Amino acid sequence: MTTVVVNGDAREVVDEPVRSLLHVLREELGLTGAKYGCGEGACGACTVLVDGVAAKACVTPLADVSGRAVTTIEGLGNGGTLDAVQAAFLTERAFQCGYCTPGMVMAVSALLAGTASPTEDEIESGLDGNICRCGTNARILNAVRRAASGGPRAGFVATAPPDRDTPGMQLGQAAAAPWDLTRDDEALVDRLGD
Ligand code: FES
Repeated sequence: MTTVVVNGDAREVVDEPVRSLLHVLREELGLTGAKYGCGEGACGACTVLVDGVAAKACVTPLADVSGRAVTTIEGLGNGGTLDAVQAAFLTERAFQCGYCTPGMVMAVSALLAGTASPTEDEIESGLDGNICRCGTNARILNAVRRAASGGPRAGFVATAPPDRDTPGMQLGQAAAAPWDLTRDDEALVDRLGD
């Protein structure tokens, strides 16, 4: 057996160094927030933090994390309360199918832990290793800006009123045109409306 500190708890896991961290998390510890996507370090669905640094769990051997601190999406928040990054993703409705979301949230958590007020370039490079197949990228960027600033970035229109508590269910408040109406861009609205 070997020990990994997962979300603050020392966990004894079967010592098979060639096993991936993702396999251990999902199959042995029951932490299924980190997702299996590509299995080769390309999509970011499996992103977790190892000693506070974003890591692709699918290509991280168990041997590399023995005795180290691993944080998964289940380790964010506090007693059922979402942390700032999770809340920002929810408020901005920054997901469609949601499969990439845990990895996105963890990558953003790592980014903001190191750079509290990232530039646009830093945000994009911080998410370089994470792919959203649904194409929710504009909303994801808004969520990062919201999490970094504590509110929506100036010049951007929030996609939801602040008092909404059930995102996705307020159909009357949904975008009047396709998903990327996150900017106050009348020309884009006109083009999409044709
Ligand atoms: Fe790990 Fe795609 S499943 S990067």
